[in-house]
Formats: sequence, C-alpha cells, structure tokens
Amino acid sequence: MAERVGFAASIERVESLTPTLRRFVLGVQEQTFPPVSPGSYAALEFGDGEKVYKNAYSIVECSEDGRELTVIVRLAPQSRGGSRFLHEKGRPGLPVWIGSVANLFPIVKTARRHVLLSAGIGITPFLSYLKKLHSVGADYTLHHFCRAEERPAFEALLAGHDQARVLVHTGLPSEVGLADWLQDEAIATHVYFCGPEGFMKWVEETTCRCGFAPEKVHSEHFFVPEGGRPFEVVLARSGRKIVVKGDETLLEALEQADVDAPCMCRGGACGACAVTVLDGQPDHRDHVLTEAERASGKVILTCVSRAKTDMLTLDL
Ligand code: FES
Repeated sequence: MAERVGFAASIERVESLTPTLRRFVLGVQEQTFPPVSPGSYAALEFGDGEKVYKNAYSIVECSEDGRELTVIVRLAPQSRGGSRFLHEKGRPGLPVWIGSVANLFPIVKTARRHVLLSAGIGITPFLSYLKKLHSVGADYTLHHFCRAEERPAFEALLAGHDQARVLVHTGLPSEVGLADWLQDEAIATHVYFCGPEGFMKWVEETTCRCGFAPEKVHSEHFFVPEGGRPFEVVLARSGRKIVVKGDETLLEALEQADVDAPCMCRGGACGACAVTVLDGQPDHRDHVLTEAERASGKVILTCVSRAKTDMLTLDL
C-alpha cells in the first residue's frame, strides 16, 4: 500500500475570534513541519466516524520549531460541512491530517513596495506576509476591510504588527478613498488582494483602471465550493457511473467512490484537479481556466465545477 504523504496532527488550542471566525492551533506529532513561505496553504483532513472532510486553509503561522501550525476557519453560510464541523466539533485532541502544502500566492521579492488589500477572512494569507515583510524591512501597507462589529476582533488580530502600516476600515473600499490611494502608488508597487467575490471584483477593476500592469496585481480567491443540481459522471476507462449529489462536489463523489482523482487546493485556484471531459457540458466555477478553455468544454476542475447536463463523461 502507498505511504500516506503528510503529517499527523491534532488540535491543540481553539480560540473564538468572532461568532464566525475561529483560530485553530494544530500540534504536529512525531515529525516537525518544514518552514513554509508566506501565503502558503495546507490541505487538512478531519472528521468523525461518520464523515471525513477535506478543506484547504491558509497557514497563518508555522512555529519556528515546526511543531505548531495555525489556521483561521470561517463558518461559511454555504458550508457543505467542513467549516461547520470544525466550529462545532473542533476541540483540543481532535486528530487532523495535514496533507499537501503549496503556495499559489507568494510575496514578489523584487517588488519595491507591497500594498495588501483584504476583506473579512481574506486577511489570513496576509497574517503570514506581515511578519516576513517586517523582518526584511520591506515597504508595505495593509488595508483590511471588515464589518463594524468585527473591527475589535481584527484589530486584536493585527495588534502585534506595525500599526503605522496596518489600517482597518469598516467602510467599503469605494467609500474610504482606496481608488485614490492606488492611483498615487509608484510604478514599482505590487498589489495583493484576497476577500469575498464582490471585493475581489472591485479591486480587480480598480487596479486595472489605475493602470497597474497585470503582473503587478496578485490575488488569491477563497472559494468555498457550493452545491447544486445532482448529476451523473461516467468514467470512460472503466464504464463506472457515479452520482454527484447536490451537496457534494464532483471531487468528493470521486473520492467517495475510491477513484484516484488528482487535487491540491480544493478551491478552484490551482488547476491540479483538471480532468478531460469527453461528453456533456461542464458548469465552470473555477478561477483557473481561460475563456477559451471554458468555451471548449473539454476540461473540468473537479473540486468546484459541476455539470449543466445530466451526465458528464470523464477521461478517468
Ligand atoms: S484542486 Fe486546485 S483547482 Fe481543484
């Protein structure tokens, strides 16, 4: 049997930051965790006897001795179970498997200045950025946007950082003059942003309007896959048929059926789960495929996308 890749860990501490945000410190058992670069995420596996959940979370902090890993989990309204399980049953002692670790959102080392823009749970990758940027003496500013009632929690979360460089806003980006600040940024500035869809769209459009070159604009889409209409997949190589229920992803249905399906981020951001579609029409929900790839309908990212037709035939 193939050796399972990853780290055995368990929850050591839990802290409630707001009614919908919890910080989990995971203690790694036996081994030590290797150093991770700011912006990395980890795929976590946890559950009870009934169900196993697999979700990816930004690594907020990895202790210097490699024994502790910290993540913050938001209770998503459209949660299919994972974040709800952690909020309700994630207590000290709960075993957690830390699978793949990757970084799709690294700091650009050649940038002369870094502007970090986040909203809500989108702060998590930047919590690891701040420590690094400060330690190397980089020029940076973080603008974080949140609801008024969450302000004290985010201010507490950011309390240990350089307060002159960390600004928390409770108004919308358009209301606090962010577009003007971006307009004034020097040519060597890189912008990084992470947050809910509406925020992402606003920053994307505004940086484009302000003349930022695409290679100086970096984003990480936090995408919680939503359910939808059930559909059936046919695995062309074996002829097997698998039903994808309304409250599970195509990837989860494949895993449930013991199909060896590739994956990494589980959030439509890395492209690792791409599978060739031989028949049927995908309902694309990722942030990876180009317009041409979407239009061709020949590939699907199984972690987030679904089907517009009742059946999809996959090259699996
Ligand atoms: S696993 Fe990363 S896009 Fe699907």
